[in-house]
Amino acid sequence: ADQPMIDPFGRTISYLRVSVTDRCDFRCTYCMAENMTFLPKRDLLSLEELERLCNAFIDKGVRKLRLTGGEPLVRKNVMHLIEALGRRVSDGALDELTMTTNGSQLHRYATALHDAGMRRINVSLDTLDPDKFHAITRWGDFGKVMEGLDAAQAAGLKVKLNAVALSGVNDHEIPDLIRFAHGRGMDLTLIEAMPLGEVDQDRSSHYLPLSKLRGDLGREFTLEDIPLDTGGPARYARVTETGGRIGFITPLSHNFCASCNRVRLTCTGMLYMCLGQDDNADFRKVLRENPDDDGVLKAAIDAAIARKPKEHNFELDETHSRIAVSRHMSVTGG
Ligand code: GTP
Ligand code: 5AD
Ligand code: SF4
Repeated sequence: ADQPMIDPFGRTISYLRVSVTDRCDFRCTYCMAENMTFLPKRDLLSLEELERLCNAFIDKGVRKLRLTGGEPLVRKNVMHLIEALGRRVSDGALDELTMTTNGSQLHRYATALHDAGMRRINVSLDTLDPDKFHAITRWGDFGKVMEGLDAAQAAGLKVKLNAVALSGVNDHEIPDLIRFAHGRGMDLTLIEAMPLGEVDQDRSSHYLPLSKLRGDLGREFTLEDIPLDTGGPARYARVTETGGRIGFITPLSHNFCASCNRVRLTCTGMLYMCLGQDDNADFRKVLRENPDDDGVLKAAIDAAIARKPKEHNFELDETHSRIAVSRHMSVTGG
């Protein structure tokens, strides 16, 4: 068997996040500029190349694989890749194949995703107010996302909602999001906005430390820490009043890098060892120069893991506004 991936800080890598496209049909204000330049399509890995690379990572010990984007469901023929990776769940090589999506296409894909072996997805939803939704996503259709949530749950997919907590935008709505999610049997995870890529606004004006939000929620809800481990970075609490769970992802206010178990692959085959660092490894080149030799591929994986940094570079400076990393979240897939 192949050697497992253990980085220089003793962390075992078992979670691969794969951004299958940097394109998205929304333009969330904290994520993208309105006029984004996307990667040229000719630079993309083919779905077959992505599959080969994912399989090499699975051989190297990846047990959880998440497709991201951009919006993963806007990649042409993405179901071919999902079906191929789903077979690695049924043969026992993967514990979980999952996805983070904006929900815009879910009404069309939910059943196919479940049929392919997906059991759980995360859907980004920052507000329940259709006008505000339109303002945050710039042209997203709230009704379609609601249809998508219905379709996903009807298809048997477990859904977790992700909300980026934005001061002055959705902070007063978090209790409603909690009641909405928990009323439908969904978990809700709150995320601190990270300084990734230039957008048309100053993120610092909306930065909301989740430690503060959690304190505020304490006036309305009773939160009890629970040990749930999904393999992701969130720390969870049970809300006594609703019986549901909320997760907190706090890269800025409480760095969780010491327990990092993941690396991320972009749609052009660049492996980023950390979301908050620029260092990367070019796997498109390795794939294409060694079409029949997975040994070389796996040696390149070992060499990349050996360079995984200790922690991200996001710093809570006095303005919280420093762009730590110039590439956007949609390239690295979060
Ligand atoms: P679960 O499997 O449900 O735990 O999901 P997840 O939290 O691993 O994945 P998801 O795609 O829902 O990510 C939620 C948020 O966490 C996104 O904004 C990611 O960018 C962020 N995130 C995930 N991993 C890391 C990480 O290693 N570092 C930082 N800073 N953020 C991360
Ligand atoms: N900071 C934090 N979260 C972000 N997302 C996109 N951009 C940022 C950012 N700069 C979130 C999306 C989605 C997840 C994958 O990442 O809302 O839920
Ligand atoms: Fe698209 Fe997600 Fe970025 Fe919104 S946060 S623009 S849905 S990639």
